Amino acid sequence: MARIGTRGRGGVRTDRNDLDDASFRHSGDEGGARVTSSDVPDYIAKNWAAWERWAPGFVAQGRKDWNERDLRWGVWGTAESELGLLETIKPAADVVELGSGTAAISAWLARHGAQPVAVDFSRRQLDTAYRLQLEIGPSFPLIYTNAEQISYDVESFDLAISEYGTSLWSDPRRWLPEARRLLRPNGRLIFVTNSAFLMACTPVEGGPATERLVRDSFGSMRVEFPADDTVEFHLTHGRWLKVLRAHGFELEDLIEIRPPEKATPRFEFASLEWARRWPSEEIWVARRT
Ligand SMILES: C[S@@+](CC[C@H](N)C(=O)[O-])C[C@H]1O[C@@H](n2cnc3c(N)ncnc32)[C@H](O)[C@@H]1O
Repeated sequence: MARIGTRGRGGVRTDRNDLDDASFRHSGDEGGARVTSSDVPDYIAKNWAAWERWAPGFVAQGRKDWNERDLRWGVWGTAESELGLLETIKPAADVVELGSGTAAISAWLARHGAQPVAVDFSRRQLDTAYRLQLEIGPSFPLIYTNAEQISYDVESFDLAISEYGTSLWSDPRRWLPEARRLLRPNGRLIFVTNSAFLMACTPVEGGPATERLVRDSFGSMRVEFPADDTVEFHLTHGRWLKVLRAHGFELEDLIEIRPPEKATPRFEFASLEWARRWPSEEIWVARRT
């Protein structure tokens, strides 16, 4: 995902900070400590800075996503009506979105009767979410904090979702325990990330996946992208299972997305041809044990 910054559409750089604190007060900034770079792991500080740089490049996509009737998941925009991931959530379910970005998933959930809370450490991403709340609606709390440490009580939520949020940008040994703490017994966790296969075929300098295994899958789960000064976390399936179990989750489903023949990716992590042959995107569904 860090290749956003080095691939075609991303890499927006700006030093201007035009955010208005008032927007966050209005939109429910009651929970969560502010992120400061001195008291967080190095990867949080790096990724945080990167997302503040990139956020302006996500406004248009955010607006498009907020205007969609059907919820679209992931890079291939797979429709919720096809996946049915949220079919069984109870009315008025409490949902936390970890690394919500422009919070289109939370918006869709709010429209369908759930009570979402969108958490992100990029003020600029949350500012876009806030503007879209005013422009399109509905409103729900936007929490500006590192999603590895959220000031909500234990067992506050029925469902935790992360779509290329903490699921990719944070250490699972830190964000999974926090997700577990926040979930009620039997609560569900749904997260979307790049497949282990895609990462093994992604060039070290970034760019779309090749047809060669160019990266090690064993070794550190921490994957650095020096060109963007960002850090991601990628695990093999076996390692995901272990870490999920170790932090009190039981796997319910693992969906490997195969895009349809004419799909267009939102980001060029892999060509359509590649993603029709190998899994590029995974959706993990787990339950708090
Ligand atoms: C790819 S975007 C998420 C996309 C999102 N599903 C959407 O529709 O906009 C990743 C987001 O995760 C946020 N993020 C990454 N790590 C985070 C962390 N530890 N705490 C809070 N937000 C985080 C980034 O600021 C960014 O907005």
